[in-house]
Amino acid sequence: MENELIELFHSVFGKESKSVYFAPGRINLIGEHTDYNGGYVFPAAITIGTYGVARKREDQTIRLYSENFSELGIIELSLTDLVYKKEDEWTNYPKGMIHYLIEQGYVIDQGVDILFYGTIPNGAGLSSSASIELLTGVILNDLFNLNINMLDLVNTGKRVENQFIGVNSGIMDQFAIGMGKLNHAILLDTNTLEYELVPADFGEYVIAIMNTNKRRELADSKYNERRAECELALSRLQTILPIKSLGELTEEVFEQNKDVIADKELIKRAKHAVTENQRTIKAKQALVNNDLQRFGQLLNASHASLKEDYEVTGIELDTLVGTAQKQSGVLGARMTGAGFGGCAIALVKESEVNHFIKQVGQIYQEKIGYSADFYIANIDDGARKL
Ligand code: GLA
Repeated sequence: MENELIELFHSVFGKESKSVYFAPGRINLIGEHTDYNGGYVFPAAITIGTYGVARKREDQTIRLYSENFSELGIIELSLTDLVYKKEDEWTNYPKGMIHYLIEQGYVIDQGVDILFYGTIPNGAGLSSSASIELLTGVILNDLFNLNINMLDLVNTGKRVENQFIGVNSGIMDQFAIGMGKLNHAILLDTNTLEYELVPADFGEYVIAIMNTNKRRELADSKYNERRAECELALSRLQTILPIKSLGELTEEVFEQNKDVIADKELIKRAKHAVTENQRTIKAKQALVNNDLQRFGQLLNASHASLKEDYEVTGIELDTLVGTAQKQSGVLGARMTGAGFGGCAIALVKESEVNHFIKQVGQIYQEKIGYSADFYIANIDDGARKL
């Protein structure tokens, strides 16, 4: 792969570079829609991600090319004009990254040529955008000797998403992609950014990723809507409770006080945030205890909550997950990421995986009318130079 990309760089840009970088994608084991509610998340970086080959230029021009969007050719930007433009498509992610790094005072005084090649299916909800952000960060850090620590790159990536692109997302994706560790999941407290690396040892089971092939891109407005609903529910709870986030509440305290929210729908949204946070803590403990049955049950409960209370699933995800949960050798399944499409995960006995894929794939195709894709999640290190 690396040699092919080095050659491709040469043929696209007419110059040589042997500097190759990689940023993973991510799955989230559990802890969904908790990262902007001050709760826990439990993601892991995966071996599908984004590769980059890069080289400094002598002028002020930034030339970006993605093999995934080869029809768009090289997109040229200038270091002196780094503003969001819809027509600049995917290059807004690297552009935003360069913009904010310069704004933070890092000296990037020459242009760059960067070739991107992503193995994350586009729109699958496995964080291709955060992967591009962190990849860009790692490349600039290396080429310009900026000495930025990974956490700063993670925060800058989040800022690109929130302020440059306009999606009010939390920190989970960038954190998992920046801080990932081979064969480990990350239990992250999004309130304090304290984290714990937990061996992702599933014994004779594997995590299968199931792609609905329904793009989740158009869901960004719904995402912002859910976030706003949680903020409103929190502000009503704050009239009687001294809390800063929903993540501080136990289920018990929530149940005792939820009526102050005074809106059925908002109560459901907040209930998900509270219960999901508690499930995440329990799931991490189950994994540490090697209690995979329990871990699987928590995955199922998470999906039910995302379906009934948070309402971010939809027919495609529910079909995949519901079907997966019924297969032999499956301990649990749930959607992963923002929802409304994208991917789900299932904990499946390795010896049953082929049968699982065939069965679930067939039922999905019959019900939805197009096929799902399946991959096995291998857990990888975070963004880096190769
Ligand atoms: C998206 C966001 C994350 C997180 C998840 C839902 O992936 O980018 O910050 O909120 O949705 O858990």
